Amino acid sequence: MPVPVILDCDPGHDDAFNILLAAAHPSIELLAITTVAGNQTLAKTTLNARRVCSAAGIRGVPVAAGRDRPLHGPRRVAEDIHGGSGLDGPRFGQEEPDVPLDPRGALTLLRDILLTHPTPVTLVPTGPLTNVAAFLLAYPELAGRIERIVLMGGSTGRGNTTPAAEFNILCDPEAADIVFRSGRPVTMFGLNATHQVRATPEVVARIAALGTPLSALCVDLLTYFASTYREVFGFDAPPLHDPLTVAHLIDPSLTELVRAAVTVELAGTYTRGATVVDLHGVTGRPADTEVAVHVDAEGFWRLIVEAVRVLGDGAGPR
Ligand code: RIB
Ligand code: CA
Repeated sequence: MPVPVILDCDPGHDDAFNILLAAAHPSIELLAITTVAGNQTLAKTTLNARRVCSAAGIRGVPVAAGRDRPLHGPRRVAEDIHGGSGLDGPRFGQEEPDVPLDPRGALTLLRDILLTHPTPVTLVPTGPLTNVAAFLLAYPELAGRIERIVLMGGSTGRGNTTPAAEFNILCDPEAADIVFRSGRPVTMFGLNATHQVRATPEVVARIAALGTPLSALCVDLLTYFASTYREVFGFDAPPLHDPLTVAHLIDPSLTELVRAAVTVELAGTYTRGATVVDLHGVTGRPADTEVAVHVDAEGFWRLIVEAVRVLGDGAGPR
């Protein structure tokens, strides 16, 4: 049976590929896409989600906008990585995407789906956790309708936005704390895992060889993403963080997980937003989070290239 999934995202180059992967693969039932402020402002991440769906022929998946700022603390964007539009690289037209914006807003859409879907739903947040936390606060009685939360964020090691904190968690540490302590099963794909899947020139060439307008758009996205990761971090190829979440749902054998206690630092002067991952059980805290530690990169890229092929050939989502 396909896994019923709601993506909560801040497109964002890597979020865009997660949308493609979830829409293309038959083992995922993509129920909805909700957007959150993160890589860019909410208006831009929401427009980008609609642009990706429109360009890939993804129809019938409601897209709703969520929170435009964190529960606490300042707003931040990642313009140095994703550009002024949040999805720099391809030349999107100025016309409105033909995928509409669902007027309900993210939390109402989440509520409606969780109330009506016959089975619990997997949430896949790949941006700041503001929407998910706000939903859990607003509808605690629906938490049991969430099967699990498979998120991109944090790290077992260093951060990428401060030395200690990864971007998604740092954008809204209080929201992340609520999610990790929610009691729902959480699977965390942190930078320690996502840096194992870098979009090398060989991978980009495989996508280019598909020879479709969608594959060309994906090459433009990856080319831009590579330029900013080279400039900002000195990487030889950009890590495509977010699609590891859906790739894990498609084929759990691609990722090695360990169970560990994960605590979000809220007060540290220099460490706010860090995910403190107790890999060796020294804190006595319950090891209740699944943490990704190793990834089969080739298996991951096979899924990505196939998703672009399926959607680009006009085969479209199932
Ligand atoms: O730190 C990487 C994460 O932050 C990714 O999800 C990227 O899209 C940004 O949201
Ligand atoms: Ca993201």
